[in-house]
Amino acid sequence: MAGDGIGPEVVAQAVKVLRHVLPQAETEEAPVGLAGIETRGVPLPDETLALAKRADAILFGAVGGPDEASLPREQRPGTGLLKLRKELTLFANFRPAFMFPELIGASTLKPEIVDGLDLVILRELNGDIYFGEPRGIETGPSGERYGINTMRYTESEVERIAHAAFQAARRRRGKVCSVDKANVLETMQLWREVMTRVGREYPDVELSHLFIDAAAMTLMRAPKQFDVIVTGNMFGDILSDAAAMLTGSIGMLPSASLGLDRKGLYEPVHGSAPDIAGQDIANPLAAILSFAMLLRESLGLEDKAQEVESAVRSVLAGGYRTADIYQPGTHRVGTEEMGDAVVQALQARRAA
Ligand code: IPM
Ligand code: MG
Repeated sequence: MAGDGIGPEVVAQAVKVLRHVLPQAETEEAPVGLAGIETRGVPLPDETLALAKRADAILFGAVGGPDEASLPREQRPGTGLLKLRKELTLFANFRPAFMFPELIGASTLKPEIVDGLDLVILRELNGDIYFGEPRGIETGPSGERYGINTMRYTESEVERIAHAAFQAARRRRGKVCSVDKANVLETMQLWREVMTRVGREYPDVELSHLFIDAAAMTLMRAPKQFDVIVTGNMFGDILSDAAAMLTGSIGMLPSASLGLDRKGLYEPVHGSAPDIAGQDIANPLAAILSFAMLLRESLGLEDKAQEVESAVRSVLAGGYRTADIYQPGTHRVGTEEMGDAVVQALQARRAA
């Protein structure tokens, strides 16, 4: 599901890589976002949802156009993605932020702050103010309009994301930081209580808590202290963009949205970037790295996932850079060329 803006360009590069490492894979394409609205009148056409339900894994580009914020919710491209996440119960959104040594100069933070950075934001994806009812824009008795959204989490929703966080920490450095706003919001008070309770089942994992404002600050001040950050849908949306920028470019970072079985949706953290669409300048590495996550998580092909990740590392080491990560002295390439470079690096590895 390539979607909109730069989505089709970057997904095309990931598909090139797919054809190379998994020539036997069966693939199908389906419209979503603006592409869904244009072909079927809705951001998530029924055929697209049915296909997503049948698939083992979904490789997703991005959705969204230049001025969607004023459209009614049913016609907003992003609504298609939200519905897909909800309908497939993809509640655990892993957004890793790690530093490629070659790109350290591309970060807006000082090198010593981000050198060796390796954290993952685990964002809950099926609840919170994104889906809570009541919601809407209403008119009050005086004729003045008001907007309303509801922050809402059930205990079981918090429990399942808590388990996902502690299990992820066990595979990493054994630390979970739960981010909430328990000092102001009851929903978040419940969040913290449940996190603490589930945490007792994982005595080998270190659990800490931060309020969202302090977490945002710490992410800028000393991000290396984090291992797994687990948080709700809204806070996770915001923190994950900030975390991505620590690494120099949001164009580098993949994500995985997982549910109760192995099926997952894999998408670059960057959006549709309509301003640079169609110019062959977008960075396809986030999409390619998302495909590596797909190989690992949904297909259980760890070796192949690592092959793709090392191919990406070797093109960076070889000096290839798209515009977003370009620095003088490196070799500036377009979207297509970057995709080709990754395929060549895979070929070279095979031959060696
Ligand atoms: C994201 C995006 C989406 C979100 C939009 C496109 C609905 O910002 O995946 O982070 O808010 O979840
Ligand atoms: Mg976002």
